[in-house]
Amino acid sequence: AARGRCGSGRVGGAAMAVFVTRRIPSEGLRVLSQAGGCRVQQWDSEEPVPRAELLAGVAGKRGLLCLLSDRIDREVLEAAGPSLKVISTMSVGFDHLALDEIKKRGIRVGYTPDVLTDATAELSVALLLATCRRLPEAVEQVKNGGWTTWKPLWMCGYGLSDSTVGIIGLGRIGQAIARRLKPFGVKKFLYTGSRPKPENAAEFEAEFVPLSRLAEESDFVVVTCALTPATQGMCNKDFFARMKKTSVFVNTSRGAVVNQEDLYDALAHGQIAAAGLDVTTPEPLPTDHPLLSLKNCVILPHIGSATYATRSTMAVLAANNLLAGLRGEPMPQELQL
Ligand code: NDP
Ligand code: DGY
Repeated sequence: AARGRCGSGRVGGAAMAVFVTRRIPSEGLRVLSQAGGCRVQQWDSEEPVPRAELLAGVAGKRGLLCLLSDRIDREVLEAAGPSLKVISTMSVGFDHLALDEIKKRGIRVGYTPDVLTDATAELSVALLLATCRRLPEAVEQVKNGGWTTWKPLWMCGYGLSDSTVGIIGLGRIGQAIARRLKPFGVKKFLYTGSRPKPENAAEFEAEFVPLSRLAEESDFVVVTCALTPATQGMCNKDFFARMKKTSVFVNTSRGAVVNQEDLYDALAHGQIAAAGLDVTTPEPLPTDHPLLSLKNCVILPHIGSATYATRSTMAVLAANNLLAGLRGEPMPQELQL
């Protein structure tokens, strides 16, 4: 693993000291270093900042640019002290931020919605297809000699044509996935959330249903909701028991929305056909984790937004959010607390 180091670059006056918790796309760092009066200290590594370095690095800073892998809780806020005015996360998800503590201190928060929607929806569709058509398993068969001839009953999976797709959380990414799946011949879209959203659902003629009905009727379940206390562990034993034996489960939101032991049981006992996960608990998933022993579980290392262009745009947006917050201006994308 790359070793981190804290580097400092100083441009202009000393007023706006910020801590950046990781090496980020250079375009983002350039925005900060070219801003007058911004003094950047960075954990310049591909690997996460160790907790002690985070606590030390944030002390006395006015701004913090962090990632979804940094837990920003009371301890960090206390280490930062009263100088901290802005937190900018290079992610749309904000479940790693202790928002109640942040709000209490009057700290503003920036995040990166919209700019990663297309990349994440694209990856979600890729994962869904890889899972339901068993691509990793099939590629493995080619490599290990399992491919002996064309066989009518071999390597069959499930297709989208005439299917029912259930989306848990028809937000930005959920809608972008539905838009991409529709041309595959999906017959019906269902969705669930905290309330019906007819304005989002109209394009897909999607029907708002309770979670239990979504589980029972969907051929494909796609999870794209935010991780909140209400969604934590939402896909559990009861949920998987309601799903059809032929149905496929895909999660590109956060690992903690799923009870992984219950998912393992459902997959191992043929209660559901297959699962595709871009997110797990923990991340990284230990290489000896039981889910990795299952052929019908396709696991990716949280790469939903991982295109060069998207990551660069996310970094620039995170930097601009941070700067705007530091200057007391409206942020391009501010989380309303
Ligand atoms: P949005 O805020 O647009 O969508 C989130 C959706 O979650 C909303 O539609 C919301 O519906 C829904 N939701 C909230 N509570 C519930 C609930 N109890 N049951 C069902 N749905 C609920 O966010 P995005 O679409 O931009 O992003 C969604 C999530 O995807 C992020 O929070 C992040 O965790 C994850 N993500 C993962 C990526 C990856 O790399 N795998 C990349 C980008 C994002 P309602 O308004 O009705 O509450
Ligand atoms: C996010 O932004 O929340 C994703 O998980 C990574 O892009």
